Amino acid sequence: MQKPVRIAPSILSGDFARLGEDVRDIAEAGADYIHIDVMDGHFVPNLTIGPMVVRALRPYTDKVFDCHLMIAPADPYIAGFAEAGADIITVHAEAGAHVHRTIQLIKSLGKRAGIALNPATGAEAVTHLMDMVDLILVMSVNPGFGGQGFISSQLEKIATLREMIDTSGRDIDLEVDGGVNDETAPQVIAAGADVLVAGTAGFRGGKAAYAGNIRRLRGHA
Ligand code: DX5
Ligand code: ZN
Repeated sequence: MQKPVRIAPSILSGDFARLGEDVRDIAEAGADYIHIDVMDGHFVPNLTIGPMVVRALRPYTDKVFDCHLMIAPADPYIAGFAEAGADIITVHAEAGAHVHRTIQLIKSLGKRAGIALNPATGAEAVTHLMDMVDLILVMSVNPGFGGQGFISSQLEKIATLREMIDTSGRDIDLEVDGGVNDETAPQVIAAGADVLVAGTAGFRGGKAAYAGNIRRLRGHA
């Protein structure tokens, strides 16, 4: 069942020179999850942060740390993110041949496990993971950078995954990441998503604007 919409601001659009304060500010403004984009310069053409930064941010809020790992291989780093304070660890279906094993590893560490799908990957990639995952992340841009345009073809995939989740009867978040803004948020919610990642649209306008940004994305005036 589609749950109430939760907003997950991506700190990729935060102020990296004062990231702890920015995480606290966006959390106090009403963020549900803090989305942390981890990139390795190999799986995606950009480099961001590792477990040390997650650990450094952990004291700034009790909100769910939603770690999106755009790295390959992922397995050697899962324990590091778990120990650093991640609550949800999401890996890409395309990141290796043994993603099932990676999900098992995340679960064995007591963390919620997510599976992410690039725009060109079909919903069927998660069929054999439905009994394990706690979150499915649909990339609505090609991963690597904030500020890209929403890829509309992903709406159909979101709707398919909504049906798969409902059929499973399990409590699985359906998260959408990339190009989510005031115009596209209603579309992804209508398609069945219940967690919206927002980088640009979450952090736009600075601290004073955060609460309004989050309210609008949620669909509240
Ligand atoms: C892209 C990241 C996204 C990104 C979203 O690879 O996974 O989380 O920060 O940024 P916006 O919301 O600006 O598209
Ligand atoms: Zn992300």
